[in-house]
Amino acid sequence: MRLFLFFTLSFLIIFSSCKKEEIPTPIKPSKVQETYQSIKNILEINCINCHSASGSASFLDLTSYVSVKTYLDVNNSFIDRISSDDEFYRMPPSGDLSEEEKNRLIDWVNSGYLE
Ligand code: HEC
Repeated sequence: MRLFLFFTLSFLIIFSSCKKEEIPTPIKPSKVQETYQSIKNILEINCINCHSASGSASFLDLTSYVSVKTYLDVNNSFIDRISSDDEFYRMPPSGDLSEEEKNRLIDWVNSGYLE
């Protein structure tokens, strides 16, 4: 009986002490405001091969802030294009954009594509 009590008590102590240990919620890093300057290199690496004056998709020049902004001001397929999984619609066609890069571009566009 004593042994039984001893175990029961031990269990209670172990359980109650476990309960108190709360896993601290990680502090979320404050979101950075994306700007053209901060996302520019994503476009340079993934888009301007084609989207520049000498590229195969020169009708949409993505090499300067002004031309990207001019496009975004009147078109709304940019986010659709980079988020799409359809190999005939997505941009870049290779599908090489990482989730993080997509999210950063989307954040930038949605926050008003600041320079
Ligand atoms: C391999 C060449 C190539 C690359 C790299 C590329 N594009 Fe394109 N893009 C094209 C071509 C060709 C079209 C036109 C055909 C079409 O609509 O799919 C196009 C069309 C688009 C359109 C639609 C334009 C419109 O309004 O009709 C957008 C937006 C776009 N691209 C954005 C991007 C972005 C952003 C990147 C980089 C993340 C990128 N593209 C990378 C070739 C490319």
